[in-house]
Amino acid sequence: MQQDQLQSLLAVLADGEYHSGSELGELLGVSRAAVWKHLQKLSELGIELDSSRGRGYCLPGGLELLSESKIAACMSANAALLSLEVLPLVDSTNTRLMSRAEQLPSGVVCIAEQQSAGRGRRGRAWVSPFARNLYFSMLWRFDGGAAELEGLSLAVGVCIAEALESLGVVGVSLKWPNDVLADGKKLAGILLEMSGDPAGACHLVIGVGINVDMAAAQALDIDQPWVDVASLARAQGLAPISRNVLCARVLSNLCDLLSEYPEYGFARWRERWMARAAHLNKPVRLTTASQQIQGVLVGVDVSGALKLATDAGEQLVYGGEVSLRSES
Ligand code: ATP
Ligand code: BTN
Repeated sequence: MQQDQLQSLLAVLADGEYHSGSELGELLGVSRAAVWKHLQKLSELGIELDSSRGRGYCLPGGLELLSESKIAACMSANAALLSLEVLPLVDSTNTRLMSRAEQLPSGVVCIAEQQSAGRGRRGRAWVSPFARNLYFSMLWRFDGGAAELEGLSLAVGVCIAEALESLGVVGVSLKWPNDVLADGKKLAGILLEMSGDPAGACHLVIGVGINVDMAAAQALDIDQPWVDVASLARAQGLAPISRNVLCARVLSNLCDLLSEYPEYGFARWRERWMARAAHLNKPVRLTTASQQIQGVLVGVDVSGALKLATDAGEQLVYGGEVSLRSES
């Protein structure tokens, strides 16, 4: 099915009202049989439709699709320099920007309704069903090399947490180095990738995935506890949170972060990260490629390195392919 037909169909059904097969057929310029096939495709994407004889088809509860203009309208003034691209489907927003990093200007943002090959850290897959969550990446160019970016991935977590808090969500915590949790379950993930000269001009792609309203049946491949914004909002008595608004808030925060980071670094973000640190003063176990370290998590230093109190004294652990788990 062509992407623009899928978009048109969804744009009509997004209102949550019933639409007859003939109305949809006219809209797409196809037969009713073809409409039926298209509707089957939607159900394969995990979009459950209700059909009723005589009334037609409806998407119960409607659907909020991502909209470049809605996101732009909700961004802060300084984020106006970002250039947004909203796509229905992409392999991975990170892959898309990384493969074009040399050509694209700094500040390009790729946002997708669905990823067919969403990527997590360490080569893992990121589950990315259609129109349920947020998946986006931002490209930024730095002249001062990788050293300028120490601690940045932790600060990205703060941007996500503060965006959610600005919409009333409480209880978001940050697990070193860059997981966003609520109720101890994974709410969002961050994937930073870099290309260019690590000692000079380099391109950074910051990928963010936030679970917003994911059905359990769509998350069967996730092998760890997860949570979404919709269930937090319900439990906390908040009205449903718009994906467009949340996306705009995170992008605005990221824009502030990236503009000032080369000058001020992690120092301005450390306290904000610590205020939300998961497992603070608790025993944890760190697994790296070569070893395991046990100790009490006492915080992070001004570069974002993890401070662990171990039997052998305080140890500093720098980011990378490291996994942290609670020992309690
Ligand atoms: P750590 O690096 O500390 O082990 P982690 O267990 O969160 O952290 P990551 O590599 O950061 O692992 O994230 C990838 C993992 O995230 C995958 O193994 C998968 O279980 C999980 N995952 C994939 N998609 C989602 C999603 N939409 N929401 C929550 N978790 C997901
Ligand atoms: C993790 O916790 O392992 C990181 C997950 C990062 C997922 C986001 S979704 C948008 C961007 N595109 C990707 O392929 N991955 C990141």
